[in-house]
Amino acid sequence: MHALVTGGAGFIGSHLVDRLLEEGHRVTVVDDLSTGSRANLEAARLSGGDRLAVRVADVAAADLDAMMAGDPPEVVFHLAAQISVRASVADPVADATANVVGTVNLLEAARRQGVAKVVNTTSGGCVYGEPARADLPVTERYPGEPHSPYGVSKLAAEQYLATFDSLHGLARLAARAGLDVVGAGQRLWPPPGPPRRGGRGVDLCWRDGARRRGRDLRRR
Ligand SMILES: NC(=O)c1ccc[n+]([C@@H]2O[C@H](COP(=O)([O-])OP(=O)(O)OC[C@H]3O[C@@H](n4cnc5c(N)ncnc54)[C@H](O)[C@@H]3O)[C@@H](O)[C@H]2O)c1
Repeated sequence: MHALVTGGAGFIGSHLVDRLLEEGHRVTVVDDLSTGSRANLEAARLSGGDRLAVRVADVAAADLDAMMAGDPPEVVFHLAAQISVRASVADPVADATANVVGTVNLLEAARRQGVAKVVNTTSGGCVYGEPARADLPVTERYPGEPHSPYGVSKLAAEQYLATFDSLHGLARLAARAGLDVVGAGQRLWPPPGPPRRGGRGVDLCWRDGARRRGRDLRRR
């Protein structure tokens, strides 16, 4: 299988690239290296050889249609995103450009190129906002009322994905990663989503990114 991984030079994306190559697939990474790095792809380069291609490009601005033409992927894993809640509060236009325009640009290219499936990585914490204590723990069906531009842009991206599915039959899957994913290759600490400790031990995103999760972890 040929898989395209946006954000493949990032923390989570590079682990996915490693796994896809390990399973014998061919992988094209599209990443602008704004927070990701070529170093994250070093192991993939060694193990994948010519089964790995890396294209340095902004998903919101690049002609992804032309990029895919001639060798379209069967599956697109979409991880490229502006991922900082704090940055989204400081510059919501940049956040929406990367996360909303970038996603729509990708979906349009995928539709035109006949991509079979798009797997979108979204936020397991920020799309819900602050659920009432009585509603916890929430399920994926809980209505999203995000409290940060990042939460809004990730929710909008999910909804675009669902709309492209119903309009064009672009099979999709939205993976709401838990808040916060931590592990090898992560660039930022504390993790970018500024959470707080909520009721019943649930971490929630803050609107203004005022608190750091590291402190909260030490309190546990
Ligand atoms: N890390 C977490 O805790 C967490 C939790 C929930 C959801 N997610 C989601 O998972 C995905 C990956 O997150 P991560 O933690 O690996 O972050 P990351 O910053 O390590 O990876 C994001 C990658 O996307 C690239 N990128 C950013 N903007 C781009 C653009 N406009 N065009 C092309 N490439 C661009 C960056 O260079 C980077 O390599 C994101 O969609 C994020 O919203 C992460």
